[in-house]
Amino acid sequence: MTVDLLLGLQWGDEGKGKIVDVLTSKYDIIARFQGGPNAGHTLEFDGIKHVLRTIPSGIFHEKSVNIIGNGVVIDPVVFVKELEGLEKFNIDIVSRLFISRKAHLILPTHRLLDAASEASKGKAKIGSTLKGIGPTYMDKTGRNGIRVGDIELVDFKERYRALADKHQSMIDFYNVDLEYDLAELETEFFTAIEELKKLTFIDSEEYLNKAMKEGKTILAEGAQGSLLDIDFGTYPFVTSSNTTAAGACTGLGIAPNKVKDVFGIFKAYTTRVGSGPFPTELFDEDGATMARVGNEFGSVTGRARRCGWLDLVALKYAVQVNGVTALYMMKGDVLSGFDTLKICTAYEYKGKQTDYLPYNIEPENVTPVFVEKKGWAADLTGMTTYDQLPAELKEYIEFIERELEVPIKVVSVGPDRTQTIMK
Ligand code: GDP
Ligand code: IMO
Ligand code: MG
Repeated sequence: MTVDLLLGLQWGDEGKGKIVDVLTSKYDIIARFQGGPNAGHTLEFDGIKHVLRTIPSGIFHEKSVNIIGNGVVIDPVVFVKELEGLEKFNIDIVSRLFISRKAHLILPTHRLLDAASEASKGKAKIGSTLKGIGPTYMDKTGRNGIRVGDIELVDFKERYRALADKHQSMIDFYNVDLEYDLAELETEFFTAIEELKKLTFIDSEEYLNKAMKEGKTILAEGAQGSLLDIDFGTYPFVTSSNTTAAGACTGLGIAPNKVKDVFGIFKAYTTRVGSGPFPTELFDEDGATMARVGNEFGSVTGRARRCGWLDLVALKYAVQVNGVTALYMMKGDVLSGFDTLKICTAYEYKGKQTDYLPYNIEPENVTPVFVEKKGWAADLTGMTTYDQLPAELKEYIEFIERELEVPIKVVSVGPDRTQTIMK
């Protein structure tokens, strides 16, 4: 069998967790392929709201196996807290969650390095979640990292010490104010490592390819969004992994010709948390309304998310880079009540209009060009079929489909599993 991918097309927080949970009943295996605890994927069902960080969003379904792939970076301390949060659900974690030996570990000093690096950047800071993501991927590509499989080696502690000592001198080099008690952080880390050892470590590329031969279905769950991709995002204001479709191949060990559908998720408007350019950002009452109605606060850091109109230039780019075959539109309900909605269809760039995402999208380089669409007043949150949706929303959807040349297959009208309309 083949693999389907589910990816965020904007700057993250599109609603990936909700949709993976909705789709899981169709798949045998759900696999995360990149990112780490910088992600916060929210699921809501039966009156319960749950935020997952490193654990795939299929964990609540009895029949599916969940895999943390080699492309993911794992902080054992955050991971164990995540497991504790799941205890009340009585999930048989040991038989349902496997971890790749090739996934890299986030050390306490990676987190400190993240903080030191951001502090040293001053106004130019990335707005990182400070979970140690950047420093851990730097050690991975620099060939210094420590992997989950190393926990099984007799000299794991010595390897840890050597890397942590090196980090210590790097932290000193930054020469910024940072208060921490490393001994305490290390005790917490090694206690969490003991807990991690209770889970099954696998060679996930072998496991997944064997599963495919046996006819099993796999859904790869992306984290972050395409515009945060290390190569194709708004560099340097990005995360440190490939969040786009190719990342699923390297992050799981799956060949490109095994990928079938690519589901691209986007919000009916745009949000971004952290620093970096955002051409359609709103600083007025409309933006404040989106933030309030959409409850736009980071699921990990609680930071306010910046809000703006839908940006089709950026979306077109993401659709192209990922080879999206079907679109899922989230949070349409948040736009109810606006008299007029704006959609950005092009940028004014160097005196010309372009619908291609240029190299520089800072405010001084691009001005968004908008079309206006009539809004709708109806509350969508109780609607269950496409036919029930207001005519203006259908026009909004069909306009996006025409512009992006990809069908919108799902319209989400609320955070709950049940508030999902299949078109
Ligand atoms: P993810 O990182 O892509 O999984 O997204 P997050 O969980 O960080 O953020 C999405 C937020 O929107 C969460 O609080 C979801 O519960 C919520 N959400 C998802 N879909 C909808 C929707 O259609 N309508 C509304 N109002 N909220 C939604
Ligand atoms: P999910 O999977 C939204 C952003 C941070 C920062 C930049 C770099 O929930 O959609 P990092 O911690 O990776 O060094 O931060 O990326 N960022 C996210 N924004 N959703 C996420 O994940 C994010 N993960 C990282 O805010 O701007
Ligand atoms: Mg999120």
